[in-house]
Amino acid sequence: MDSRYYPAKNVFIDSIEIDDYIALESSIVSYKQLQHSIEKPLKMILVFGRPGTGKSILLNYLYENFKYQKDIHYFATPTTNEKEFFHKIFKVITKKDLPSNTQVNFSTLVDYCRDIQGKREIIVLLDEAQMYSSEMMERIRLLADSRSIKFVIALHKTDKEEDIIAKEHFQSRIWEVIELKNGTIDDIQNYVHKKLLKKNLFEIANNIKSYHIGLIYKFTKGNYRETNKMLFTIFEIYEYYDLNDKNKIDINKFSKKIIEMSAIKLGFINV
Ligand SMILES: Nc1ncnc2c1ncn2[C@@H]1O[C@H](COP(=O)(O)OP(=O)(O)OP(=O)(O)O)[C@@H](O)[C@H]1O
Ligand SMILES: [Mg+2]
Repeated sequence: MDSRYYPAKNVFIDSIEIDDYIALESSIVSYKQLQHSIEKPLKMILVFGRPGTGKSILLNYLYENFKYQKDIHYFATPTTNEKEFFHKIFKVITKKDLPSNTQVNFSTLVDYCRDIQGKREIIVLLDEAQMYSSEMMERIRLLADSRSIKFVIALHKTDKEEDIIAKEHFQSRIWEVIELKNGTIDDIQNYVHKKLLKKNLFEIANNIKSYHIGLIYKFTKGNYRETNKMLFTIFEIYEYYDLNDKNKIDINKFSKKIIEMSAIKLGFINV
């Protein structure tokens, strides 16, 4: 028989599915900001933040909410292959497929964009944009200059790329930056509880008190991906004891020790 902790563990598998979206205080703020930005006559909008702060899920949520109302497109994993990328852009703009053996003529594409200016407003959501080359970004900027395509660019911030927004393609004045940050302790508390409650895991959710959240927060600093990893590992440990050595766990009380075991396993605590 499966352990009661098995479904709890699976709640914390990373997911950017819209059904798993939770309207947290900080996510609502970023979403409203983004929604407001796409209504403005901007050419580029930058969604910026460290890995695991919720950029992809935010872009997905926006896409799902507007896909029937707007000419909006989500590009998930970037193809670093320029040819393939412009084939995809070509399809979005012209609504036609180009035979795979042909090359998109970039200046024709720009002309096409100029032609549809004022007639259509296309929104392209580019996730993981740190993977695009500078040349591709430069071309994306040129397409954005035509004003018929608005790009929402999600970039992850790393220590060595702090200066990325200083790069040439982001120098144009008409862009806006939405910065996503790690969650606050309240966000994390809501996040953990709501995720479990969504799957009807009431007892488990009730056993996780503010004190436990405080401890988890100390290790993950409010990063959602790190929080997922930590909760997944906690319930994996619980599952193990539940199946193999039930006496070692108390189903009515969440264990500080198991939080710490998970932190050791994930390298948050060095022994
Ligand atoms: N508002 C939210 N509702 C539900 N889950 C969320 C939310 N924000 C973040 N998450 C969770 O955190 C994980 C990390 O979020 P996401 O993948 O969107 O981060 P990211 O900023 O795109 O990271 P990267 O820079 O590595 O691509 C998601 O898989 C999801 O499980
Ligand atoms: Mg992402």
